[in-house]
Amino acid sequence: MTHPLEELRDGALEEIAAAPNEQALETVRVHYLGRSGSISAWGERMKTLSKEERPVVGKLLNQARTAVSAAIEEAGEKLRAAQESGALTGLDISLPGTPNELGALHPLTQMLDRGIELFRRMGFALAEGPDIEDEWHCFDALNTAPDHPARNEADTFYLPDGRLLRTHTSTVQIRAMQAASPPIRVIAPGSAFRRDEIDATHSARFHQIEGLYVDEGVSVADLKGTLEFFLRELFGPGTAVRFRPHYFPFTEPSFEIDVKSKALKSGEKWIEVCGCGMVHPAVFEEVSRSRGDAAYDPEKWTGFAFGLGMDRLAMILFDIPDIRLFAQNDLRFLRQFA
Ligand code: PHE
Repeated sequence: MTHPLEELRDGALEEIAAAPNEQALETVRVHYLGRSGSISAWGERMKTLSKEERPVVGKLLNQARTAVSAAIEEAGEKLRAAQESGALTGLDISLPGTPNELGALHPLTQMLDRGIELFRRMGFALAEGPDIEDEWHCFDALNTAPDHPARNEADTFYLPDGRLLRTHTSTVQIRAMQAASPPIRVIAPGSAFRRDEIDATHSARFHQIEGLYVDEGVSVADLKGTLEFFLRELFGPGTAVRFRPHYFPFTEPSFEIDVKSKALKSGEKWIEVCGCGMVHPAVFEEVSRSRGDAAYDPEKWTGFAFGLGMDRLAMILFDIPDIRLFAQNDLRFLRQFA
């Protein structure tokens, strides 16, 4: 005759074998081995048994508990393994993965970053101003007469409200001086816009790094030293740098800078890369007037300013033949600089 405990055990083992998932298995466990489970109940019942019966039932109870616990444990492992391999069916782990395409910086961005890095080494801080400007920041404050050709509608993009897309980053010279008293040493990388005929070397939007250094006793020698160092760091020590007299309304004297280097594909040809000069006293005076103080007294302070054509520099450095390539988003072009 089988003992009721053995029947309970066998019933439990059958249910365990039939449990379709871990949840069902847990229900079985609670039913038999839980606090008020039917096998556990025999533990309570032991107290009511006679001395002779107790060891017999005790033994059966232990066996039942051990057998059922072990079966639950084993069934649980099987179910978990099955679940995992189920999740893996249909997945061919020998297939190569889907590669993540890694982006890269645009060559112009790389060029700007490099320029910024070099000027930072020389102690220039970053300044910025808006692409959409007013005439005063773009022209008047920069000593540019109302009839100057650069202000022409044929050259400059005007908005209906009279504002404009800045034609150079020199606007940030003015903004920087309005915001801070001298001494001041800043660069302002950014876009500039002109209504040029678009061709291999002209784009309606191009990029400059503007520079401004104002202090006591700043001279043309400082201007030359700074820009020669910059260009030689960029293009190599064998680079020839030439300062040519030029005219800008906001600098006096003014220069254009040409470079030439055997190491570059452009070779033995002078290429113009920068406009620069000593800040015109009229600019200091207009800034002081707008600030309502005498912070930029031209008797006390002198300064130099420059505007580097970054598209041009990138074209020389990376040997890019056409400025339009920068804006066409052709991956065959861009990937070469990744
Ligand atoms: N803003 C001038 C240009 O775009 C360059 C320049 C900057 C010249 C600063 C002198 C001083 O051509």
